[in-house]
Amino acid sequence: MSHLLKDLACTTHKVTRQLAPIPCALLLALCPLSSIAANIEITSPDKHISITVRDDNLKPEYQVYYQGKSVIDASALGLAFQTLGELQAGFKLVDSKTSTHKSTWEQPWGEKQWMLDHHHSLTTTFSNGTYQYNIEFRAFNDGIGFRYHFPKQAQLSELNITQELTTFTIPQPEAAQAWWIPARGWNRYEYLYKKTQVSDIDRVHTPFTLKLNNGIHLSIHEAALTDYAAMTLDQRRSGVLRADLTPWSDGIKVKTHAGFSSPWRTIQIAPDAKGLLNSSLILNLNEPNKLGDVSWVEPGKYAGIWWGMHIGENTWGSGNKHGATTSETKRYMDFAAASGFIGVLVEGWNLGWDGSWFHNGDVFSFSQSYADFDIKAVADYGKQLGVRLIGHHETSGSVTNYRKQMDDAYDLYEKHGVTQIKTGYVADGGDIKRVDKSGIVRHEWHDGQFMVNEYLHSIEQAAKRKISINTHEPIKDTGLRRTYPNWISREGARGQEFNAWGTPPNNPSHTPTLAYTRMLAGPMDFTPGIFDLAPEGLDAVNRVQTTLMKQLALYVVLYSPIQMAADLPKNYAKYPDAFQFIKDVPTDWTTSIALQGEVGEYVVFARQERGGASHGKDWYVGAITDDSKRTLTIALDFLDKNTHYQAQIYRDGPDANWQSNPYDYIIKTKNVTNADKIELPLATSGGAAIRFKAL
Ligand code: NOJ
Ligand code: CA
Repeated sequence: MSHLLKDLACTTHKVTRQLAPIPCALLLALCPLSSIAANIEITSPDKHISITVRDDNLKPEYQVYYQGKSVIDASALGLAFQTLGELQAGFKLVDSKTSTHKSTWEQPWGEKQWMLDHHHSLTTTFSNGTYQYNIEFRAFNDGIGFRYHFPKQAQLSELNITQELTTFTIPQPEAAQAWWIPARGWNRYEYLYKKTQVSDIDRVHTPFTLKLNNGIHLSIHEAALTDYAAMTLDQRRSGVLRADLTPWSDGIKVKTHAGFSSPWRTIQIAPDAKGLLNSSLILNLNEPNKLGDVSWVEPGKYAGIWWGMHIGENTWGSGNKHGATTSETKRYMDFAAASGFIGVLVEGWNLGWDGSWFHNGDVFSFSQSYADFDIKAVADYGKQLGVRLIGHHETSGSVTNYRKQMDDAYDLYEKHGVTQIKTGYVADGGDIKRVDKSGIVRHEWHDGQFMVNEYLHSIEQAAKRKISINTHEPIKDTGLRRTYPNWISREGARGQEFNAWGTPPNNPSHTPTLAYTRMLAGPMDFTPGIFDLAPEGLDAVNRVQTTLMKQLALYVVLYSPIQMAADLPKNYAKYPDAFQFIKDVPTDWTTSIALQGEVGEYVVFARQERGGASHGKDWYVGAITDDSKRTLTIALDFLDKNTHYQAQIYRDGPDANWQSNPYDYIIKTKNVTNADKIELPLATSGGAAIRFKAL
């Protein structure tokens, strides 16, 4: 990079114009904009990552390096507006400022309690003499972020963005591997991941994870997505991925006005796959908690009247198989209390599920129960047991119907002591139904600006009542849980439900891929813990393609502050020794460390409990593999030095394999210290889960 340049010291960054070395501020003032090219560089605190920003092709550009190697080649910056056209060609770098930031901040709940935010930042100003905008860059040790600020300026108010011109240019795209799901598809984010060369990708969702030819791993995503459209990536020329914003139904990408800031465009960068998992970049680029005291947000495990509907044992609608009855809810509450869970989710309690709810959310009432469900009786019963009723609102994408009832619906739950609601937006991509101000029905994408705002509206309204939200069919996570800690989890990928009815069900590499893709965005309500892996009555191909032990390991690997014990109580009763792990495993952590892994193949996480029964002393490990069996050797050097532990090891048995022998498992205990190593044999699509109980 800097071999191209003649460096001029300029605080922590460098500005070069092809002139005699004079102080840069003076230089910018003296030189006519058209005659010189500027080039500024900032580095991460550890100096491994650097970003150069320049205008020498007569337009704003950036490039990113890791240990001196280009990981994002020269790439475009800029925006296009309906009234102004493209603000790119002829825009020169006219000003820049740098600063350094180092602080720690605490998560109210999370995979880590204390977060370090250490970065160097660079704010640039680009101008064509008439208009100007700023692009702010931040370089962290685990990656970079940048965002646009379009300041208020004369004669500009309302602005419609028609295109974001940002690109991400991948070096040697035909030699780089990518893991991706398609964007703008009918099934939103619920696809199996494809593994191809970067040069063969379509339009993709983010987080978009790739491995360059030299082994460096990247993940492109965004942080703090509010009042803007989601960014997808569209491959133009080979390797040139353009930020492709999801449009409104009228084709406009973002409706805004001068004075706006875009979300952060993020690139996580690591020398190996596990490095991506240890990154805090996305949360560091979000705003601090806006809700104040959030001690009412409650991590924990839950059971629910849920899987029975997916496997056909129960129905959401009324009739003799109706799942959401008062008596069935009480039975689940007994089970939850005996297992130490915080709540019971009840789906199908409210009027609207009979008939074709799937594509018609206007049928739902969010306050009227079916006759066999008494909300007060179950909420009161739960209170006696210390178990909460967890609410459910399926909208089927009819957001106007939901909006109309939202206040009353949240009030009703608040009145009954419900502190968590699962929402759902089942509708094909592009088919969210809203009625606009003129009464016209419009169809929107789940990840367009309209829905970005709609989801956040639900979070804000719920927060007023101390209610947390777990969104299904959500907008992708961009770290907003930092700002709104009541956004407790979400789906946004193929979850366990696909094993009941998906075509095809989730394959053995699905969860080891999720760990390095979807999970980089934030918590997922995957709903692990299915113990009857091939329920009777399902389609011949539908079953869970894992061993029993992999189901346990998912509680540690796929982070969420709320984790469901998704199966029916009767199935847990068949394997009480294995179920013990689900009872023990926490959902809130002091720290988390990804120890080993390769994208889509395997992953090992160690996490230390936060608070809880062990007062933060116990550690847990989860390891999962794809279709290949493998033996992993895990050094226990993450354990506390001066503590002895009893390792309670749950692992695949010698003859286990997911297809014909998924229930072969071994549970054994062993005393260990941090000087020890443990060997974990994993079966095909197998796993291992360990509790390190401090002695
Ligand atoms: C899809 C959700 O992902 C699932 O968990 C829920 O049971 C159904 N919608 C019905 O709301
Ligand atoms: Ca779903």
